[in-house]
Amino acid sequence: MRSSAVLHASQLVTLAGANRPRVGSELSDLAIVRDGGMLIRDGRIDVVGPSRDIEKQAGSAEIIDARGKVVLPGFVDAHTHLVFAGNRLDDFERRARGHTYEQIAKAGGGIWSTVEKTRAATEADLLKQAKNHADWFLHCGTTTVESKSGYGLTVDAELKILRAMRQLNAPSGAVDGIRDSRIASAASVISNGPDPEVPLEIVPTFLGAHAVPRGMRVDEYVDLVINEMLPHVAKEKLAEFCDVFCERGYFDVVQSRKILAAAKKLGLKLRIHADQLTNSGGAKLAAELKATTADHLEKTDADGIVALKSGGVQPVLLPGSVYALGSTHYPEARKMIEAGLALVIATDFNPGSSPTASMPIILSLACTQMKMSPAEAISASTINPAYSLGRGDQIGSLESGKVANFSIFDCEDYRELAYWFGTPQMHSVYVKGRRAR
Ligand code: NIG
Ligand code: FE
Repeated sequence: MRSSAVLHASQLVTLAGANRPRVGSELSDLAIVRDGGMLIRDGRIDVVGPSRDIEKQAGSAEIIDARGKVVLPGFVDAHTHLVFAGNRLDDFERRARGHTYEQIAKAGGGIWSTVEKTRAATEADLLKQAKNHADWFLHCGTTTVESKSGYGLTVDAELKILRAMRQLNAPSGAVDGIRDSRIASAASVISNGPDPEVPLEIVPTFLGAHAVPRGMRVDEYVDLVINEMLPHVAKEKLAEFCDVFCERGYFDVVQSRKILAAAKKLGLKLRIHADQLTNSGGAKLAAELKATTADHLEKTDADGIVALKSGGVQPVLLPGSVYALGSTHYPEARKMIEAGLALVIATDFNPGSSPTASMPIILSLACTQMKMSPAEAISASTINPAYSLGRGDQIGSLESGKVANFSIFDCEDYRELAYWFGTPQMHSVYVKGRRAR
């Protein structure tokens, strides 16, 4: 049996609590153990408590000395676009000169320019770049990400992206298509098999409806997504969720509803890019369809918040994209917390609107721009996103029986993560009890 003991953390931030997403004042309760420790056996957390108790039970376990450091559950990043080719440095420079996201897209930049590069990339190149991105997440203390396709926009290119995600979590050395896909798709389940290519766990989402490809009418493309892409995705079990960019100039509410309803019929769960640039009814649609999450919500109004509550939808707020687009219009986090929503914050890592893999930066933005407390931000980046990915019973907190995904930071108080913004504080990160970085 493989066992280790984490000892003497100045704060072991456990997030222990109810077996459901946290709301209201629960978001502020981090269940911190001072001079805390935990015993880990075969990749799972066995015991959590004061170091003196853990030490007594440690036996021959390998000791991980966390003296003077903070230990947190690995961050769970519930909204990323991990797999794409190239970058958008030109867009970045144009934005610095004052051009808007929509103007840049019209001028040949935007999502479409990444689509062209991603279509042209070989599978090997795509995988190589995605591994690099995965490494950035681990370096920032993130151990699980949701990741969307959406830079292919043809049947083959969308499948290529989703297969790349599966490949990243497949046992190292396995050839895509011939290894046991159950191992790959259930990466949060401890297996004694070979290690995956990257230790970062990736939860795949199909976002074929990210933009309308050049030369196609929107209705024509909606039909392609529904009649060709979705059946392939479902048959190969390439995604757990389906997402749509519901926005002016992309997919309106009627088109989004059509796609998401078809995905639901095929057994996929739903996430929606909603009300990012305009209040276009995305939050209400999420509620109507009982989507798991509605993401962005910068322009969602009071009615939209009421709808999210009545539909049991978790809001996923993405302050990194507001910041990087040079906007000041952040989503109404406080109103959503007051309304009793189980808030999530995420990076929205992508080459256009949010080129960051850093959850600590998102914690900082949550506190400074959305007026969340550091504790609320930690709950919204660990336990709540774990529930939004259907993994709340496995990850997101440091509790007996959960997977031993945790990060150790070189600071004594968890609030320092949001406070010393942009300053590296990561000491080490563990996935399934093994050191990953
Ligand atoms: O979440 N809003 C749409 N999708 C991404 C941006 C993608 C891109 O610009 O490449 C987002 O912000
Ligand atoms: Fe996004």
